Amino acid sequence: MKLIAPVKSVLITCLTAFFVIPLNAQQPKIVKVKLDQPIAKVQPNMWGVFFEDINFGADGGIYAELIKNRSFEFAKPLMGWSIYRNKPREGEVLVVNRKEANETNPRYLQIKKLTDDFELINEGFKGIGVKKGMRYDFSTMYRQLQPGVKMVLILKDENRKIIGQGNFIPESTGSEWKKQSVSFVATETNPKAKFGIIFQGKGSIDLDMISLFPGDTWKNRKQGLRADMVQLLADMKPGFIRFPGGCIVEGTDLANRYQWKNTIGPIEERKLLINRWNTEFAHRPAPDYYQTFGLGFFEYFQLAEDIGSDALPILNCGMACQFNTGEVVALDELQPYVQDALDLIEFANGDLSTTWGKKRAELGHPKPFNLKMMGVGNENWGPQYLERLAIFTKAIKAKYPDFKLINSSGTDPEGDRFNLLNTSLRENKADFIDEHYYRPADWFLKNAGRYDSYPRNDTKIFVGEYAVHADKNVIGSNRNNWESALASASLMTGLERNADVVQMASYAPLFAHIDGWQWAPDMIWVDNLNSYGTPDYYVQKLFSTNKGTDVVSITLDDQNIIGQDGLFASSVIDKTKKELIIKIANNTKESQSIIFDLEGKTKLKTKGTIEELASEQLSQLNSFENPLAVSPKAAAISIKDKKLSTSLKPYSFNVIKIPFISYAKP
Ligand code: AHR
Repeated sequence: MKLIAPVKSVLITCLTAFFVIPLNAQQPKIVKVKLDQPIAKVQPNMWGVFFEDINFGADGGIYAELIKNRSFEFAKPLMGWSIYRNKPREGEVLVVNRKEANETNPRYLQIKKLTDDFELINEGFKGIGVKKGMRYDFSTMYRQLQPGVKMVLILKDENRKIIGQGNFIPESTGSEWKKQSVSFVATETNPKAKFGIIFQGKGSIDLDMISLFPGDTWKNRKQGLRADMVQLLADMKPGFIRFPGGCIVEGTDLANRYQWKNTIGPIEERKLLINRWNTEFAHRPAPDYYQTFGLGFFEYFQLAEDIGSDALPILNCGMACQFNTGEVVALDELQPYVQDALDLIEFANGDLSTTWGKKRAELGHPKPFNLKMMGVGNENWGPQYLERLAIFTKAIKAKYPDFKLINSSGTDPEGDRFNLLNTSLRENKADFIDEHYYRPADWFLKNAGRYDSYPRNDTKIFVGEYAVHADKNVIGSNRNNWESALASASLMTGLERNADVVQMASYAPLFAHIDGWQWAPDMIWVDNLNSYGTPDYYVQKLFSTNKGTDVVSITLDDQNIIGQDGLFASSVIDKTKKELIIKIANNTKESQSIIFDLEGKTKLKTKGTIEELASEQLSQLNSFENPLAVSPKAAAISIKDKKLSTSLKPYSFNVIKIPFISYAKP
């Protein structure tokens, strides 16, 4: 459906105007909303989230494992571990490699305890977050060739004070590996504790997969996810979750690409991989960043199901990151990559008579996950991408004609690379083109009308990664300021207005650990115990929890509202909840009086609500100390004679909701 096209000169005038012309707050602007004339459908999964294991988002983040390098498979096998004793003795702690017998998890630790006690200490990811009164679940795989070793498990603070203690007495003897668990309760809270195993007695024990999880994981799943982080996602009610990235899909080279089949099944068989963010940025080195895949593809599907989101996996298309090696697989050797994609669809949806459907059932989920779409390639570009994509598309569509494929448009939303892909993919009638933009605030404001003139054909847009990037001198969590979030909100009104074309969108990246980030801004910041949503989080949440079902026209002087006097707006109705929802951003330092003229035969209640996200300080942040500094504040509003008068606060994003008495069908 064709929307009202922006008049370029009006847009330019308006964008200039709102920065320089003082506004007269006494003159209310009349904004018209055409209630009864839906102009586009909003997809139920329109607003989603982008998950990547970047910034210690998975290992050391949402995956609640507290032990770093639990299987000694990091390049330096004892990274994260240290031995505390008075006099070190040769040969009492050995890293043994059994590669011939166990290719996926070759190393284990061999303890020979002959004399005085000693302690093996794990530093955790960035320390270990410990909560007073919380149960901690320890487990390890072991075999006792010479029984007699007892292990005392301790959590301790920076002064070596014990703040939690348990005993581990191995029950099994012999050459078979066994798994055994024990739990204990912490006596104090500490964000940077360490974990120690004190070896007592005499004997020999082999250890592998030394693990410690808090008792309060999401849905109390054993060895599961951090509940506070999942809850923040669940609260957003995201329409989809894109995983596992991002660049980690591509890998620095093909050997280090993400391969979903290596991430399912028993965790001790999931072959660890170096995280490509380990070495990517010299100024943010992360030598201890690996992917253990405790959060693997089964868990991603489960997470999506838990929070009511569609799963959106992105698979490697036979190309490694083009900023790194740019390695591509030979075209005549692409088949295994294509097969991985076909097998993934069968894993998610196949019935129990299929190989991969049966595998899913064995992992505990007999019911299909109902996978509907997949990305082929992350940020790949060039003719080499088109060649490989064509082979994937042919094979997947031949078997699953209705399955939707997301195609890459590269790293940038303009330029030669973008133009080549945008043209070719449209010629090929791509289902979705994935656009990525990390740009300054003014780019977002200038592009709020970007999609008003996009072709209305079969190819839809997935804005798969976007975020406002403030000045480069602003670093870390400080980049998630209100100015950035407000500019995002302003652009998002343009996505919503064009919901017939832009059918999905996700801010990126999602999580960052305050002591371990590589990339900023990010939507949610965490430390070892706490997490908070940035102003961007609240913008995203306001959109996804108020998505509506149909777009309706909202105009100022008969024009889409894309910057006139610093205003950006979109409007939807929700036919299920029976309400009108108006989203409007005021990007000026003045209040603005608006009269919303609600046209149509639809009958509205006289009372509604306005949720305001506002700060007069564009540099305002949320933080661990003040997590709700910029967060929605709700107030009541009244409607009289189909008119709603309100004053928008300076630098504010507002969601106005008015319930229907009865909806007049067009
Ligand atoms: O979101 C961070 C990175 O940005 C992603 O991994 C990549 O796709 C993009 O370049």
